[in-house]
Amino acid sequence: MDRILIRGGRPLHGTVYVRGAKNAALPLMAAALLSGEPCVLHNVPCLHDVFTMDKILSGMGMRIDFTGRSMTLDASGVGSQEAPYDLVRKMRASFFVLGPLLGRFGKARVSLPGGCAIGTRPVDIHLKGLEALGACITIEEGYVVAEGRLKGADIALDFPSVGATENLLMAACRAKGVTRLTNAAREPEIVDLAEFLNELGAQISGAGTDLITVVGVDALGGAEHAVIPDRIETGTFLLAGVATHGDVTVQNASAEHLTSFLQKLHETGVEIEIAGQRIRARATNGFKSVDITTQPFPGFPTDLQAQTMAMLCVAEGASVIRETVFENRFMQVAELARMGADIDLDGNAAIVRGVKSLSGAPVMASDLRASAALVLAGLVAEKGETAVARVYHIDRGYERIEERLSALGADIQRVRH
Ligand code: EPZ
Repeated sequence: MDRILIRGGRPLHGTVYVRGAKNAALPLMAAALLSGEPCVLHNVPCLHDVFTMDKILSGMGMRIDFTGRSMTLDASGVGSQEAPYDLVRKMRASFFVLGPLLGRFGKARVSLPGGCAIGTRPVDIHLKGLEALGACITIEEGYVVAEGRLKGADIALDFPSVGATENLLMAACRAKGVTRLTNAAREPEIVDLAEFLNELGAQISGAGTDLITVVGVDALGGAEHAVIPDRIETGTFLLAGVATHGDVTVQNASAEHLTSFLQKLHETGVEIEIAGQRIRARATNGFKSVDITTQPFPGFPTDLQAQTMAMLCVAEGASVIRETVFENRFMQVAELARMGADIDLDGNAAIVRGVKSLSGAPVMASDLRASAALVLAGLVAEKGETAVARVYHIDRGYERIEERLSALGADIQRVRH
């Protein structure tokens, strides 16, 4: 298994180009199942999760050509409506094929995703919503078996779940009649998916608000669509620059997708400049502590919580970080403590007391964003070497992270085992 070795203490400087959003590309790929004609997605990131989704869709008979950053998806020949356990367990976003399969074919057999490091991650909201649309759902040998011709319905989500909103949005496109989703998730990736579905011929309004209305249609055609920039990758690179007291500019970014995060960064005393799709963050004079509570969009994103914690480990003062979206998303804390961080956990809150510096250590990645936090901590550590093991977690969501950080001046390399 590959490891990433880092010798930190070097301020990062320069410009990095952000890729297409993983959490937009995955549902967009699943949405192509709804169309009987070829679709083209541009600005698709080259990530392990994208390759896994490709495998799942190809296994159903979808023809996919992924060249450069453009992907052609042709679902006209899809003959199977099954997503197997060995692939779904690797990537829970595979569960997003359930809605489109049901919407287009009236049947689906998709493995339950199972839990992961950050929580049990149930799918009850997905299944309740699909049953409200008229699907008959049973659980057989770890699989969700769903069938039925869907009819529009009013559905109130118990929680603004991103995945449930996406699954229900895709299913409702082909339901007979009108569907209203209340307490829907408002993330930019939901808006991107709704725009793509409308380009295919769907009739969706209200995406980006907590009330989304869908008028079902009889068929969906093809379309060409560009994936929005990855706001979490944007935040991760800005934090790498700030945490090392450097000066980093991220190009191709969408600042409007990161308002809460940038507001918090500003509160720490970091200088931020926004010009079109360019965001620059400088922390040459250090930064102060700040309190954070993660929330569904437009609140502070849970996917930037671990990386921000790594930066706050060396802030002036103590910060309180409350994680309200997932029940176990502090996996990075024990590993950061091995590097000299001073963090106490109290339920869903982490009290992070800023220390002068961190020191390098061998650490273990546990999930995608916790791994990114460990890389950032390695860049900050002024003494010793940090060896991050199980970097496959990082490769799921960041393209060639060591090459792009090294281009900003980091002393970082990947050691293949
Ligand atoms: C999406 O996951 C993202 N993944 C996650 O990013 C992100 O952290 C999450 O949304 C929240 O923003 C993709 O888009 C592929 P949720 P998802 O359903 O849809 C509970 C990353 O690092 N819940 O909004 O699975 C759930 O347990 C990943 O890129 C239910 O209880 O997230 C969690 O506590 C990690 N029942 C909360 O809602 C359900 O039926 C939020 O989950 C569904 C969810």
